Amino acid sequence: MPDVIRIFPLITLLLAGCGGDEEANLAPEGGSLAQSASGSEPYRPQVAADTLYNREAVIPPQCYTKTEGTRNPCYTCHQSYDDATRPNKMADGFLQGDYGFSDVGVENHWKNLFVDRRDEVAAISDEAIINYIQSDNYTAFIKGLKNDPDWSGPVPAIDGLAEGAAAFDNQGLALDGSGWVAFNYKPLPSTFWPTNGSTDDVMIRLPKPFRTASCATGTDAFSRDAYFANLAVLEMAMKDLSTISTLPIDENAVCEDLNDDGVLTMVQEIPARDHYLGDAASEPVARMSYPEGTQFIHTVRYVGLDNGKITPSRRMKEVRYMKKVKAYSTPALASLYGNERQEKMEGMLPTFVDHGDKGLNNGLGWEVLGFIEDSEGELRKQTYQEQMFCMGCHGTIGTTIDQTFAFPRKVTGAEGWGYINFEGMKDAPSVGETEPEILQYLQRVGGGNEFRANPEMRDRWFLPDGTVDESAVRGADVYTLITPSPGRALSLNKAYRVIVQEQSFAYGRDATVTPVKNVFRSVDPEAAPPLEESARIDHWDLRLAW
Ligand code: HEC
Ligand code: HEC
Repeated sequence: MPDVIRIFPLITLLLAGCGGDEEANLAPEGGSLAQSASGSEPYRPQVAADTLYNREAVIPPQCYTKTEGTRNPCYTCHQSYDDATRPNKMADGFLQGDYGFSDVGVENHWKNLFVDRRDEVAAISDEAIINYIQSDNYTAFIKGLKNDPDWSGPVPAIDGLAEGAAAFDNQGLALDGSGWVAFNYKPLPSTFWPTNGSTDDVMIRLPKPFRTASCATGTDAFSRDAYFANLAVLEMAMKDLSTISTLPIDENAVCEDLNDDGVLTMVQEIPARDHYLGDAASEPVARMSYPEGTQFIHTVRYVGLDNGKITPSRRMKEVRYMKKVKAYSTPALASLYGNERQEKMEGMLPTFVDHGDKGLNNGLGWEVLGFIEDSEGELRKQTYQEQMFCMGCHGTIGTTIDQTFAFPRKVTGAEGWGYINFEGMKDAPSVGETEPEILQYLQRVGGGNEFRANPEMRDRWFLPDGTVDESAVRGADVYTLITPSPGRALSLNKAYRVIVQEQSFAYGRDATVTPVKNVFRSVDPEAAPPLEESARIDHWDLRLAW
């Protein structure tokens, strides 16, 4: 591999902490990177697996959008709150419309956004891409991990997960007995809106004591009652609710009078409490915090088509996983966030402890691990560089609740258990707001995604004068609002397939066909117009008032 460019050998970087990203004119390794003759194409030399091309990979592409003073796609991540007991103390609301990047961060490293893929997309037939996205790359991947004697990390296994909903019962419990539970949530605007290129699902699993109730069974056998009661208690803690609806729970099966009415009966609504139940009864409930040992699986998929309906494809673009390995108290977290701020002020670039097969540690209690397609479409572990991308959104932004997004956005209570499904889902407002969330997002951003680069969304939901067609948006369910036409779905799938073939994820993972225009290729923080005060959105809550 003499022609591989090693922009920065990782080891030198960690020792010396210096760098720059000089570009050299070398041919790529393995896959091929499109280089146009026109000269406007960004230069993207192949990045070898053990090199760090982008030391600021924690900063996602969204941060480089031109706000032009009034358009604000920043508020869904960057927020500050007055809530003293909120464990997330990042308080980064000032970053809305502020381009105060580090010297490395001023350059937008996500060059895939500026590649013209029209020719390559045109060269892929509809049939080829449909066959590709509908074939299962998950089952063999899981089997491989299970049989790999050298693999020491978690195995994010759910039997039949490639089939989506069919892997779960109608309350979301995995049919394979693994204890994973699928839930229905509204995706965060706008990366995970299918119209912007990907579908997804999220599953949660609490540690075993939360799934058993030996007080009633005398054994450590699985107890559906205990598990769903504990999940309900957790949901209240994440959402600051005092009561929640549940699937029918037999109080005898958890040995507790959950609703305090003096008799042990079936209940479908339970109040908040200060301890979990069943064999987890000694575990105190902590506000906005998951118990230690909580796990999530997030699969990111192509935009599947099933008889004209948009669904998650069988093929997975990525399998993502997180495990809470340490529960910090709110004061301990405050000091960790304080250290982070201090390091930034001192101009230090982020580094993360690599726990190998377990993933990277985000320094706030979670191990985060990702798998992605290789050039043939088989799932492989992501490189350090690729996983560094995970660390920003799941670490150092203000809006997340215990570093997560989806569970706090779950359809509240009994109705929200089950595989993700937008049909009939209402566009609920954010907590503290009265207007529907997607309507507000379209108005605040002035487009159908962070980059204002989704012509179909513009045609569907915006009037010719550029304002949002409010009555149309108000009348639509979430499915209608955020899923693309079959034609758009196919071309986005093809565009991403090109990125997979190139293995150019270090330059970004967004499925774009034409170069985006409303995004800075590099930022001059002095020259970029700041966001006007009136366009700032303070105290936005990512939770929803269903
Ligand atoms: C999807 C979530 C998301 C959105 C939307 C978003 N950001 Fe960010 N932003 C991040 C993450 C994650 C980081 C990395 C945090 C870190 O430094 O650890 C970041 C970092 C930054 C930084 C660097 C901060 C530093 O201290 O180095 C700036 C500046 C920034 N964002 C500005 C913006 C602007 C301006 C917008 C809107 C045009 C925006 N962001 C939209 C997630 C987001
Ligand atoms: C640009 C921000 C961003 C980046 C970068 C990112 N995520 Fe996420 N992640 C999200 C959002 C948003 C969700 C919720 C899904 C949705 O809204 O549809 C999510 C969900 C998850 C979940 C489920 C738990 C939760 O937070 O809801 C896991 C696990 C996860 N991501 C892992 C990863 C891994 C591993 C990586 C790196 C390969 C990664 N994420 C990179 C934004 C991000």
